[in-house]
Amino acid sequence: MLISPRSKVFLCSCLLAASIALGTGFVRVAAKSATEAPAGFNTPSFNGQHSISNGIVEPAGDTFALDQQIYEENETVAGGLGPVYNATSCVTCHQNPNSGAASQITELRVGHKDANGNFVNPTVFINDGKNTITGRSIVNDRAIGPQAQEHIPATENIRTLRAALNTLGDGFVEAIDDQTLIEIAEQQAQLSEGRIHGEVVQAPIFEAPGQTRVGRFGWKDQHSSLLSFIADAYLNEMGITNRLRPTEVTQVLNTTTGINDQPDNLGLADIDHFAQFIRGTMVPPRDTALATTPAALRGQQLFHQIGCSVCHVQSITTAPAGTAIDGGMFTVPEALGDKIIHPFSDFLLHDIGTGDGIVQVGPQDTANKLRTAPLWGLRTKARFMHDLRSLSLTDAILRHEEEAHEPARHFREMEPEEREALLTFLRSL
Ligand code: HEC
Ligand code: HEC
Repeated sequence: MLISPRSKVFLCSCLLAASIALGTGFVRVAAKSATEAPAGFNTPSFNGQHSISNGIVEPAGDTFALDQQIYEENETVAGGLGPVYNATSCVTCHQNPNSGAASQITELRVGHKDANGNFVNPTVFINDGKNTITGRSIVNDRAIGPQAQEHIPATENIRTLRAALNTLGDGFVEAIDDQTLIEIAEQQAQLSEGRIHGEVVQAPIFEAPGQTRVGRFGWKDQHSSLLSFIADAYLNEMGITNRLRPTEVTQVLNTTTGINDQPDNLGLADIDHFAQFIRGTMVPPRDTALATTPAALRGQQLFHQIGCSVCHVQSITTAPAGTAIDGGMFTVPEALGDKIIHPFSDFLLHDIGTGDGIVQVGPQDTANKLRTAPLWGLRTKARFMHDLRSLSLTDAILRHEEEAHEPARHFREMEPEEREALLTFLRSL
């Protein structure tokens, strides 16, 4: 075989692409029954009547439209909003291009290191220094009155921004077996000559106290169950206490008593409707017209050849319907089971040189790691990376270092047409 000096660069990576193509073992070998997950932006905001779910069965009396309506509802102080919060509804931060997706909104996390170099959550002052908020790295930018406004001491010198994440299709992500993610991690070293090794972290399941599952949600894989993430978000983004997070962040200015989020006449609390809504969404669709152009197809090939897909895994199959997950508290329904998804993520933590210094549920070494950003729905974004500081795709790719050094180097050394093809592929996601 004759190879030009240029293609030599790709030689080892070509083999790598071949091994991905041949060894479909990189993902759980699709069972015969596995079918493609339904895709579509089908949750137009503030018009739930026209929304289409992935076919998930609703609890008695509930509808997908009602789940979405509650997801879009603005909370009030009387209903438990605050005392500290970031926004008045889920949809404020999860809306682009429709309900449940991501947005340009970021939020703040802070902390510091102790004498041993371990991350410590901040002590944040409110109420003229008379009260503190502790035990979490997130800082709420808003308060229902000045007394509850959070003030960060200068000693909390680790500070980062985190972008809102897409949740469309997350029911399928929740339905991935732990073992599938563990196997992806195990194969990465072999696929990358030892350079890449995704970290699996165990995340607690609030609804199954004492139990954990492989984390897959949030920039730090801090959750494995959607209901747990949602309960956390309702408290920490909006200040609404619920049966899984029953304690207010602060009593300063708090006017409500008891748990804010009470079940409705269907026996469902808001957190149940939110979980039902997210579990009912389809996965973000490809731009099929662009995806089938020669440039995008060439770009997709390059994406695999230079090793991007070692982390940005193209295809994963969910666990079969009937599998008990989330500590036995949720059973994978027909609509989510044995489905092939294309998230372009391994949902594992990596050090690509952009780590934000924060530790959540993982060990201390996760301070410098982030979850591989799923690239489905990428074309809906104009700013990139956890801090949204990359204002072009090229900049986002060039920020990849450390574990992703080799793929990024290949990208740097590509001919302009190859680079353009790769970017065209990314714009079709
Ligand atoms: C102020 C903006 C904001 C609000 C309001 C908000 N979120 Fe989020 N959401 C975020 C951010 C930021 C992240 C990423 C968090 C992180 O890992 O640091 C996120 C992540 C998530 C995720 C994880 C997605 C994934 O695939 O990893 C879920 C699920 C989620 N939010 C659900 C909700 C629900 C339900 C509500 C309403 C109760 C809500 N969010 C309210 C900003 C917000
Ligand atoms: C070692 C694992 C790894 C490899 C290899 C890798 N990435 Fe990433 N990628 C990540 C992580 C982790 C992030 C999130 C980093 C952050 O937000 O700071 C990310 C983020 C991105 C983003 C930003 C997405 C968004 O929504 O903001 C793009 C685009 C991207 N990667 C493309 C690529 C391309 C193209 C390649 C190959 C040249 C590549 N990646 C190789 C792990 C990897």
